[in-house]
Amino acid sequence: MVPLRKIFSNRLIAQFQVRSMPLSVLRKFTSHSTDLKEIMAKKIYEHRKVVKEFREKYGSKVIEEITVDQMYGGMRGMKCLLTETSELDPEEGIRIRNRTLPECLEQLPKAQAGEQPLPEGIFWLLMTGDMPTYEQAKSLSQQWAEQAQLPPHVLTILNNFPPNLHPVARFAAAITACNTESVFAKAYSEGVPESRYWEFTFDDAMSLIAKLPTIAATIYKNMNHQGSSVCVVDPAKDWAHNFASMLGNENHKFIEFMRLYLTILSDHEGGNVSAHTAHLVGSALSDPFLSFAAGMSSFAGPLHGLAVQEVLAWIAKLMERYGPDVTEDQMKDFVWETLNSGQVVPGYGHAVLRRTDPRFTVQHHFALKHLSNEPLIKIVSNAYKVVPQVLREYGKVKNPWPNSDACTGALFQCLGLKDMRFSTLVFGVSRALGVMASLVWDRALSLPMEQPSSLTTDELKKFAGDAQKTSQNVKQAI
Ligand SMILES: CC(C)(COP(=O)(O)OP(=O)(O)OC[C@H]1O[C@@H](n2cnc3c(N)ncnc32)[C@H](O)[C@@H]1OP(=O)(O)O)[C@@H](O)C(=O)NCCC(=O)NCCS
Repeated sequence: MVPLRKIFSNRLIAQFQVRSMPLSVLRKFTSHSTDLKEIMAKKIYEHRKVVKEFREKYGSKVIEEITVDQMYGGMRGMKCLLTETSELDPEEGIRIRNRTLPECLEQLPKAQAGEQPLPEGIFWLLMTGDMPTYEQAKSLSQQWAEQAQLPPHVLTILNNFPPNLHPVARFAAAITACNTESVFAKAYSEGVPESRYWEFTFDDAMSLIAKLPTIAATIYKNMNHQGSSVCVVDPAKDWAHNFASMLGNENHKFIEFMRLYLTILSDHEGGNVSAHTAHLVGSALSDPFLSFAAGMSSFAGPLHGLAVQEVLAWIAKLMERYGPDVTEDQMKDFVWETLNSGQVVPGYGHAVLRRTDPRFTVQHHFALKHLSNEPLIKIVSNAYKVVPQVLREYGKVKNPWPNSDACTGALFQCLGLKDMRFSTLVFGVSRALGVMASLVWDRALSLPMEQPSSLTTDELKKFAGDAQKTSQNVKQAI
């Protein structure tokens, strides 16, 4: 048999020994430690016990029933997924580890010489449930900078896509090709025990997050700057700043918006299409690169990730028709025209939210503070007045308020990121933070392969009939 030490590094064996130690020893890792993996070992040790005790006590408790309409209605509102990182309240919006978005923004460590949070901080929070210190967030900046370089074959793939391939398709393909770097896939093939899967998922998550800005920036350069190469990552800069530099944009406002945007779009509970897809694919123990790439394919859908681009395309058509000083009445006519032609108004509505998305509010505030004179921002503000009125009149839309995508494209345009197809990719880079944190927890809790049961309409009819019979029988018995 191959000795364990040959397969795994001394560091990993040391971590395994640490995890087997009693809690009193684990407590020596103070909340000030900058070693996220060691802290995770402690958190996972504690949370596994919590979950075990909870399941022993309440394992058979019924959470809710599922209606026929929910089965035909995209499973809206069905509480059937476990996600530890965040929850979505229809009125209040996202809560990351039990903190609202405004609370997160107030408490997260800020970039030096800036006002906006470091996305590294929200990743730490998503992973551990603890608000990090500046030093803890910054330690991730350095680790991600160190792993940002792409393997040569991924660069070759990126540099040889046909010009008409959409950035999201390029993004998913390049991430898939990073599968060669997966330590999870390697450890699995070498027979590592299930209790340690999370460690390798963690390593892959860090490597993936580190590489995503380089992949995205290379796509941007290839599509907009004739394939000029991206600059070298600087370990002294934070993750968002390096991303901005690689895009060739050192404008302070742009860097600040990147920090903000990458933070606030990071997670939106587990049921949205991309998070759910990555979780599902990961449940088959596909490695984190493949799982995230699958999730990113869903971003090409105009009802999900692509809505960022669709909003801008919609505004462009509006401006083409009426010019930059479009009046509220003209906008109203245009919204009705969109609806009457059977299209959705992009950037409005949500499957869960029933109020203005706080992620929109945060971006809109940034826009009003820094770019209030820009015609595009004025249009976004006017749309916020007009569209909800029209959608309410239209009748069937459950949430007439803007979602996070309603402002993003306009902000990127004003800050110099002109290719409207690219905003979706920045969204994808951000979403990796939440999806990867969730995937680490999926493996930490040994969540099994997902396989809910499906029914045909005929079977469903029988099922509903049976249910009626049962209740009739109960009545007769009474
Ligand atoms: C996000 C979205 C897919 C949610 O869909 P949903 O959960 O089915 O939303 P609802 O329950 O409110 O939908 C009820 C009806 O209103 C329609 N509707 C919802 N939002 C709409 C919008 N912005 N414009 C026009 N119609 C809309 C739906 O298409 C549906 O019509 P149908 O009954 O004919 O199928 C939907 O609001 C949408 O398509 N929005 C525009 C795209 C977008 O911004 N996506 C990003 C989301 S973060």
